[in-house]
Amino acid sequence: MSTPGLLLLLLLLAPLPLQPSSLPWPDTTEGKATIAGLILSALDRATFFLEERLSEINLDGVVGFQVLEVQLKSIREAWAQDPLLQPLSQRVGKLAKKLAALLGRSIFYLKLSDPKYLREFQPTVQPGFWKLPHVWAHTNASLVYPTVEPQDSFSEESSDACLVQLLGTGADSSQPCGLSDFCRTFMTKPGCSGYYLSHQLLFFLLARMKGCTKGPFRQSQHYINLFCANMMDLNRRAEAIVYAYPTRDIFMENIMLCGMGGFSDFYKLRWLEAILSWQMPQGCFGRPAAEDEVSKATQHQQHFLRRVKRREKQFTDGCSSHNTATAVAALGGFLYILAEYPPHQSTLSPPGGH
Ligand SMILES: *[C@@H]1O[C@H](CO)[C@@H](O)[C@H](O)[C@H]1NC(C)=O
Repeated sequence: MSTPGLLLLLLLLAPLPLQPSSLPWPDTTEGKATIAGLILSALDRATFFLEERLSEINLDGVVGFQVLEVQLKSIREAWAQDPLLQPLSQRVGKLAKKLAALLGRSIFYLKLSDPKYLREFQPTVQPGFWKLPHVWAHTNASLVYPTVEPQDSFSEESSDACLVQLLGTGADSSQPCGLSDFCRTFMTKPGCSGYYLSHQLLFFLLARMKGCTKGPFRQSQHYINLFCANMMDLNRRAEAIVYAYPTRDIFMENIMLCGMGGFSDFYKLRWLEAILSWQMPQGCFGRPAAEDEVSKATQHQQHFLRRVKRREKQFTDGCSSHNTATAVAALGGFLYILAEYPPHQSTLSPPGGH
């Protein structure tokens, strides 16, 4: 998982502009069906990419598509009941079925390429693990840290070790919901940013999926609110620097994770438009061709700034396994919230509105 060291720093130093007003979501069934059609076409192409590179996609990539499959199943059910949306529902059903078959096959390849990592994170690629939100909230801007640590001190090894403890998948086959003093400090440390911050949220999100509610996990909701407020702040900064390439990955990861956490304000129509515009002709998401020179120039510096990259897989044509995974799960979230807010209820609390 690449850590865009310099860009992260730029992000944090960027002045935060006044928030541009959000485009309203369409409130007719036809309008929503149009947007849903666009998202589905993008997801069809991304699934085609998955099929083409199935043997090369790493576990993090598979997790993104696993989340997407859960989202699609739920959307299909919601839309099957509306005659106007039935054709879309059938399209969603077909894609979900295709994905389920591909995901089953992908486990075979993961066993070959990285059996230890697969064993430790097996629960996250298992059907039924990911549960979608049914209650929605907005992030609370007063929880944004006054200052953040400019240095990204994120350690992927530490984070993985804490996640394994939580999932109970370590070699000592302990119980799930484990939390050492180290992990408690690591995962609740204030003032973090970037991938450190998103992994703190991931930790408490996985705790929720595992049903951990005892001890420190009684405070889970507090930490989820805190981290997503700061992830929202980061996404607004990414937007302010027009999503300079290395920030796109964390931008989409934040939408994927906080969307799963139930924060509807991550589903802004203009953010959806931005993500859709980043898809590459191969169906994947990754490094745009124009960024190649910049990327070469900063490669030397990044060599020192980058953290462990076991989770990232960059293909030679610019496609990124991690980018594609966060993109499809974010896009699936946009579809899911469209289905969760039937048009006649849109006056209640339109997603992305302010
Ligand atoms: C936002 O957080 C602050 C500080 O914790 C709290 O006082 C306030 O009530 C929260 N606002 C909402 C709308 O929850």
